[in-house]
Amino acid sequence: MAIFAVLLLIMSIAKEIKKRRTFGIISHPDAGKTTLTEKLLLFGGAIQEAGAVKNNKIKKTATSDFMEIERQRGISVATSVLAFEYRDKKINILDTPGHKDFAEDTYRTLTAVDSVIVVIDVAKGVEEQTEKLVSVCRMRNIPMIVFINKLDREGKDAFDLLDEVEQKLGLVVTPLSFPIGMGYDFKGIYNLYEKNVNLFDGSNKTHVSKTTAIDDVQNEQLDQLVGSNAANTLRENLELVEGVYPSFNRDEYLAGTQQPVFFGSALNNFGVRELLDCFIDIAPTPRPKAAEERVVNPEEEEFSGFVFKIHANMDPKHRDRLAFIKIVSGTFERNKPYLHVRHQKKLKFSSPNTFFAERKEIVDISYPGDIVGLHDTGNFKIGDTLTSGENLNYRGIPSFSPEHFRYINNADPMKAKQLFKGIDQLMDEGVAQLFTLDINGRKIIGTVGALQYEVIQYRLEHEYGAKCTYENFPIHKACWVDTDNPNSEEFKEFKRVKQKFLARDKSDQLVFLADSAFSLQMAEQKYPSIRFHLTSEFK
Ligand code: G4P
Repeated sequence: MAIFAVLLLIMSIAKEIKKRRTFGIISHPDAGKTTLTEKLLLFGGAIQEAGAVKNNKIKKTATSDFMEIERQRGISVATSVLAFEYRDKKINILDTPGHKDFAEDTYRTLTAVDSVIVVIDVAKGVEEQTEKLVSVCRMRNIPMIVFINKLDREGKDAFDLLDEVEQKLGLVVTPLSFPIGMGYDFKGIYNLYEKNVNLFDGSNKTHVSKTTAIDDVQNEQLDQLVGSNAANTLRENLELVEGVYPSFNRDEYLAGTQQPVFFGSALNNFGVRELLDCFIDIAPTPRPKAAEERVVNPEEEEFSGFVFKIHANMDPKHRDRLAFIKIVSGTFERNKPYLHVRHQKKLKFSSPNTFFAERKEIVDISYPGDIVGLHDTGNFKIGDTLTSGENLNYRGIPSFSPEHFRYINNADPMKAKQLFKGIDQLMDEGVAQLFTLDINGRKIIGTVGALQYEVIQYRLEHEYGAKCTYENFPIHKACWVDTDNPNSEEFKEFKRVKQKFLARDKSDQLVFLADSAFSLQMAEQKYPSIRFHLTSEFK
């Protein structure tokens, strides 16, 4: 390509990158993630009415009904990526299932976001699922903004909540807005970022309320707006905020070492516009990503991307799957051959999908930060890298120790081949994890939630024509084992003594299946030169 054309291409990539904000919303179920997502989409004009996203949500009432979950999973492909434009920016929201049985899905999606918004319920404070998800974000230094939701309800004191966020989540918070009252007494919000007051009027759930600029809170105008009592309390609170919390520093936010906090009510569309406007200003554009070989910059001319999610069962009869690729660098073009690095094979895609609100459409060209959905008949597994030709392997699609373990047995000897193929492909999709015992080659399925066993059994039968049964295998945790000295007597002894509990994961890494917390603790004490990791990502 002539130099001039290359320059033009790089400039256009740089311009597109600047426009993109790719992020995820994480929360404990019921904190308001779906409601907030929907309100954000309303701002972008991407949907016309509230309720559109909500209908696609995996509902908690369906936990015992896996058929329903599967049906909803099918629908939720549409909400896997919700893209919209706002203030000249292209925003991609990656859906992160709040349901804890799909936590693994969410962890993987977090490898594809450039930042996150954490939603916390003002009454419930920091909950279990939020803690887990935030700890994954912290491991990766993902920039986070906290949104404290449901201010229209009685909840915890704002300062107590900020303390809780700092202590339980290990964050360094800096409030960028502050509530004026709460629950019945909720008057509105003072926005420290924009220096204005937004008065709450709970009567309109889709309308954006007007703000009044107040540069100086000492100004009497504040008393007129909210009454003297509330105005004085706010003044005191803001003084405390200023004295106790660091002032906002964008570099620290981007480095994942400081987290701005907003207050609002997603249901009432209150405080959401402020959140979005600030997000647009401060959130990172697509970031460089480390491959095993080198760090890749989004501005690079050559395309690279990785698979972070595979959605199956779109049409069970055809085993149709959609592999979701996050574009890391360059441009992804329709019908151009790209290298599937693990298979060392060139592949072309005639109908890559892009996502716009709830629609998917065929797209000719996509840029860093974008997600494209590629139709797949079994070529991809989670973590695969696709490039223009370079041998790159993106790191960091971790596996975490499952919570449940069961032997899987073949219930129809005539269909062994189908069963193994089915298990293989379902594991590639990340439905569950497979471990093979060293001692006898028996296969163990590990899952985050018990629900997945039913899903696997059902899908093996309906998509692969194979039948399976399960047998309990009471295991506490799977630990990836690692040592600096694999030839040491200590390691040999460990392998001999724990023979019954050693297995290989799908990448042939050694895993210790500890049957209790106590046996794990004993192993750690007895074999100090061996490291036991609860995630496969430790190198
Ligand atoms: P999730 O995706 O995090 O699981 O939460 P979701 O948005 O579904 O919200 C959970 C519940 O909290 C919903 O009520 C929702 O209407 C409510 N909610 C969300 N934001 C606010 C808010 O700012 N204030 C108040 N008061 N409630 C809020 P639900 O009864 O479970 O569902 P629905 O009957 O309203 O659909």
